[in-house]
Amino acid sequence: MSLHISSLLKKSADYLESRGSTSPRLDAELLLAEALGMRRIDLYINYDRPLNEAEVGRYRELVRARGRREPVAYILGRAYFRDLTLRVDRNVLIPRPETEHLVEAALGLLEDRDWPAPPRVLDVGTGSGAIAIAVAAGYPDTDLTAVDRSAAALELARENARAAGVACRIDFIESDMFAALDPLATFDVILCNPPYIADDEWDALPRDVREYEPEAALRGGADGLDFYRLLAREAPPFLRPGGRLMVEIGSAQGPGVRELMIVEAGLAAVETLKDYGGHDRVIVAGRTGNAGL
Ligand SMILES: C[S@@+](CC[C@H](N)C(=O)[O-])C[C@H]1O[C@@H](n2cnc3c(N)ncnc32)[C@H](O)[C@@H]1O
Repeated sequence: MSLHISSLLKKSADYLESRGSTSPRLDAELLLAEALGMRRIDLYINYDRPLNEAEVGRYRELVRARGRREPVAYILGRAYFRDLTLRVDRNVLIPRPETEHLVEAALGLLEDRDWPAPPRVLDVGTGSGAIAIAVAAGYPDTDLTAVDRSAAALELARENARAAGVACRIDFIESDMFAALDPLATFDVILCNPPYIADDEWDALPRDVREYEPEAALRGGADGLDFYRLLAREAPPFLRPGGRLMVEIGSAQGPGVRELMIVEAGLAAVETLKDYGGHDRVIVAGRTGNAGL
């Protein structure tokens, strides 16, 4: 009996649900569209089209990978962030929609000021390059630096920047936090989405995350705040007077990170921004002064 798009989608969505996917139908559609070289909408336009053996074979491979809980973004090799399509593999965190709030906040700040010279922006822990590339694409007159400790991540980030047409505006540097930066370098905006999963949250994460995404991109120590402590200690000398440090946080980390920014970093103007779900998502801390901001 030949398989049609409609029956294959139903069968594979049931299978993926039984394997623990929380979005089985969507996964099945994305993977089938990939196997057939179609857009998702075309699946519905061709709903009763029979599939040949080669097509079913290709699709089966992709569904098997998802059945092993590999994230769809890694299977497809790409993820979507704002209006960008980014290449991703297991060396980088799959960019999350939550992180778009950090980018929105940064772009809002950049657009709000009259800059005497292109503002300098630093992205710490750039991974796939999502934040730096989205800022470069969203605010053309910026001078960006992006650092990561992972050479493999930086390679991918550079490739993503080239594909987005912004490579010449971002300086990618392999660095443990600020260590490889010119110690005299200063920035108007420092952005960071650090690893922030606390140890006791690790086991409760979905297998898709725990077994496939890089642990070094996720874990933030016993209470999840290790990288905020590092930022509080190391970031202030790299901030220009009036500059802003903007970090993504886990929804319960607001009070802890605010305290670090005020007490440890000695920063003022601390503000907490919420995501669309009403959760604390971004902390903005500022160096006082009147240059630029
Ligand atoms: C949560 S991921 C964020 C990736 C990307 N910025 C995003 O928002 O999708 C954290 C990133 O920090 C990097 N990282 C971890 N420890 C680091 C360190 N000591 N110095 C620099 N980067 C680090 C990881 O390699 C990873 O790419």
